[in-house]
Amino acid sequence: MKLINKTAIVTGGAGGIGQGIVRHFLSEGAKVAVVDINEDQGDKLVAELADLGELIFIRKDISLPESAAEIVAETVARFGGLDILVNNAHASKQAPILETTPEIWNLSFGTGTLATLYLMQAAHPELKKPAAASSTSDPAPESRACPTRSPTPQPRRLSVPLAALLPTSGQGTASASTSSALSL
Ligand SMILES: NC(=O)c1ccc[n+]([C@@H]2O[C@H](COP(=O)([O-])OP(=O)(O)OC[C@H]3O[C@@H](n4cnc5c(N)ncnc54)[C@H](O)[C@@H]3O)[C@@H](O)[C@H]2O)c1
Repeated sequence: MKLINKTAIVTGGAGGIGQGIVRHFLSEGAKVAVVDINEDQGDKLVAELADLGELIFIRKDISLPESAAEIVAETVARFGGLDILVNNAHASKQAPILETTPEIWNLSFGTGTLATLYLMQAAHPELKKPAAASSTSDPAPESRACPTRSPTPQPRRLSVPLAALLPTSGQGTASASTSSALSL
């Protein structure tokens, strides 16, 4: 159980890959806020997984700028903190180029890049807070899959290796970015 005492937000958690992430996080002991616009599926999932662990469903459209602060506030009010943010949700529509409207184009940016920025900014103050003491026996720090609470309060730190998102050979600028990381 690597995520005991951890709280996670998973956007798009009611369906697809997000639902898989929610199930896995619960199985590792995390408390999970499932964020999605699909209310029926979100309610159904929470009812189905209630015996596995603590989870809530938050019905929000992540493309709306005001949603981010509301999602973080509701999660913190329910679980007392926030340790993990998974920006999983994304929506897009394909259309022939001459039929592609700004609304169609913006669907992808609104749910993908913009919502990710809104949520990272809203979550940042909570993620930066020192982790509380844990009564669980954690594995050695070097073997942790994720930062976990330790007896000595330490700042949380989210590090995303950007190189993992870039082409690995023959394209782009991966070689210049192999040591890049986004840190809080
Ligand atoms: N499925 C793939 O093969 C694949 C491949 C590469 C990357 N991805 C990425 O993985 C992520 C998940 O993919 P998936 O296949 O599970 O997608 P999916 O369409 O099955 O699920 C996305 C979830 O996001 C929710 N959602 C959509 N718009 C939303 C909004 N505005 N606000 C809140 N929730 C919203 C949907 O209701 C749905 O539950 C996406 O970011 C996708 O781009 C998927």
